[in-house]
Amino acid sequence: MTGIPRSSARCAAPRRRLRRGVLLPAALMLVTSCSTGSDSGKAGADGAGDPLFPRLGNGGYDVQHYGLTLDYEPEGNRLHATAVITARATQDLDAFNLDLKGMKVRDARVDGKPAGTARKGTELTVTPGTALDKGREFQTVVVYEGVPKEITDADGESLEGWVETDSGAAALGEPTGSMAWFPGNHHPSDKAAYDIEVTVPKGYTAVANGELKRKEVRGDRATFSWHNPEPMASYLASVVVNEFEVTTTKAGDLPVYIATHPEEPAAGPRMAKLLPRAIDWASGLFGPYPFSSAGAVVDHNEYVDYALETQTKPYFDEAPTDAIVVHEVAHQWFGNSVTPRTWRDMWLSESFAQYAEWMWEEKEGGRPVQRIFDDFYSGKDPESSGIWAFPPGDPTPETIFDPPVYGRGAMLLHELRRGVGDGVFFAIVRKWVADHRHGNGDTAEFVALCEERAGRSLKPLFDKWLWGEGRP
Ligand code: TRP
Ligand code: ZN
Repeated sequence: MTGIPRSSARCAAPRRRLRRGVLLPAALMLVTSCSTGSDSGKAGADGAGDPLFPRLGNGGYDVQHYGLTLDYEPEGNRLHATAVITARATQDLDAFNLDLKGMKVRDARVDGKPAGTARKGTELTVTPGTALDKGREFQTVVVYEGVPKEITDADGESLEGWVETDSGAAALGEPTGSMAWFPGNHHPSDKAAYDIEVTVPKGYTAVANGELKRKEVRGDRATFSWHNPEPMASYLASVVVNEFEVTTTKAGDLPVYIATHPEEPAAGPRMAKLLPRAIDWASGLFGPYPFSSAGAVVDHNEYVDYALETQTKPYFDEAPTDAIVVHEVAHQWFGNSVTPRTWRDMWLSESFAQYAEWMWEEKEGGRPVQRIFDDFYSGKDPESSGIWAFPPGDPTPETIFDPPVYGRGAMLLHELRRGVGDGVFFAIVRKWVADHRHGNGDTAEFVALCEERAGRSLKPLFDKWLWGEGRP
């Protein structure tokens, strides 16, 4: 979505609530690790070490592929599902954790053999019959069902997880919501390929990431099989169910799939024109589009007030402005292909998406980027409200979506561009995208690349714009 959520109320008076245990004391976390049933110390960790969300993700394995088979009943909002998780052990493992919030686990198997399960909060501990050796590839099958949960973000108000809508549902995963609908390693550092198959009542369309390989109607149920071959962080995985209208087109050779809610009738044709244009423009600036398909979901969702850059098909809670479309398209390079290594590196995702909006505005005959920068600096641009609240390099769980991460981050990129010149700046951007394609990148790596290409220290610039308190 664009720099600030459309409901300006959210930004004007950010509420501060308790953090729902995201910052548990280390001692408590240890208790959970010990409760995995390991007495030989070979249990995988119950977190991936994120500085903002320490319990998110898990240690001891690396997922290659998720095969998710979902059966969804909009009436009653019930999900029956099977997750097949192919992973490699990165240490000897006699037990490992998956993240899963709510849902009832019916069965778990590792390499076809029954495995033990235990649950504590959002940690699902799986104990295979036989311990796994380091380096071993193994397959975990979890059968689960229930009414998937809606999750309130650390900001105390934004909704994610499995959001039931008026005539369907939308699975939105940033930053922690994907654990509401499938068990997995829900940290952005463990990316994997996905195949998502969703069965819904006939008349509904179920949209997920990647390309539609098959649609099959049997009796009164329809099954949609989606194939997403490129690595994806789990927060970008998505399933959206509704009585959508579907428009398909091409952007160059790329298949484009657009699902629009009947209450947003103009969105289909509009997106079919805008998406190829935005993708083509962004490819010229950032390098080739990173995925094998593209598209969008334009929903009509009154419970959510943001767009999300869900991989290959960004999600829009309603018909978006061009700027928001460009923002989500830019995320396919920044955030999706090059994913922040931890949630503290969030600015590497949002500042580029916001800066893309500024460049698009200039290209379309609006304000030049320098004018937008000046309007942010002076406070004239309404989107600049709140951008000095904290340094963009140091958000908290409550503030990862706040204006400094977006607006002040984009200002940093502009200052970098002014400092090194257009040639070096765009060379840096393309190298960043190429070097970390389908992987992760962090702040230290980005700074190092900038300094290498600039041929000098850029410490004053980053100290001022990324780490400094208040308006520089
Ligand atoms: N990352 C999304 C984007 O910029 C925005 C987003 C996701 C968001 N979840 C949010 C914004 C919660 C505000 C609150 O496209
Ligand atoms: Zn964004």
